Amino acid sequence: MPAPNVAASLITRDQIQDRIVEIAGEIERDTPGDGLIHLVCVLKGGFLFLADLVRAMGDRVTLDFMAVSSYGKGTKTSGEVRLLKDLDQSIEGRDVIIVEDIVDTGLTLTYLQEILRARAPRRLRTACLLSKPARRLVDVPVDYIGFNIDDHFVVGYGLDYDEQYRNLPYIAVLGEGGP
Ligand code: IMP
Ligand code: MG
Repeated sequence: MPAPNVAASLITRDQIQDRIVEIAGEIERDTPGDGLIHLVCVLKGGFLFLADLVRAMGDRVTLDFMAVSSYGKGTKTSGEVRLLKDLDQSIEGRDVIIVEDIVDTGLTLTYLQEILRARAPRRLRTACLLSKPARRLVDVPVDYIGFNIDDHFVVGYGLDYDEQYRNLPYIAVLGEGGP
C-alpha cells in the first residue's frame, strides 16, 4: 500500500487551467455553426474537469451526468464496467462530448462510447484530462487529451484513491514521497 503523500504536484493548478482553456477553444473551433455542444460528464472523477471546461466555453454548452463503476477500493481495475447512473436527457441527434478524468486501460471509455453511440447522437467525441498510453488494453479514440502521463497512480482534481483526494486542485502521484 503506497503512503498517501500527495503534498506536491505532478501537474500544477496553473498547468491544468491553461490546458483546459486551450481544450475549450479547440472544442468550440471543431464545432462549426451555432449548434449546442452537449457535454456528458462521467462521475465522479470528471466533475472538476467539467466544471472548469464549461466555464471556459461560451453559451452553446449544455450538460448532463452519468456514473459508471471502474475501480472499487485500491488502484487496480476490475475490468468490469457497470452503469450506476444514466443520463437524464436523450442524446439522439445531439453533438455530444464525453468528459472523463482519465483513460487508463481504456475499458471504461470503450464501454461508454458503445452505449452512447447506440443512442444515435449526431456526433460523439471524447475529452479526457489525462491519459496513460502505456497502460492501454484496448485502442479507444480520444479527441481531446489534457496531458499524457507515465504509468503512475495519480490523485487530485477529481481523481481519487479510495474516494479521497478528489478535492486537490492539482494532480499528484500517490505515494512517491511527494512528487
Ligand atoms: P480504465 O477503464 O482502465 O481506462 O479506467 C478508467 C477509470 O479508472 C478512470 O475513469 C478512473 O476513474 C480510474 N483510474 C484510472 N487510473 C487512475 C489513476 O491513476 N487514479 C485514479 N483513478 C484512476
Ligand atoms: Mg472515471
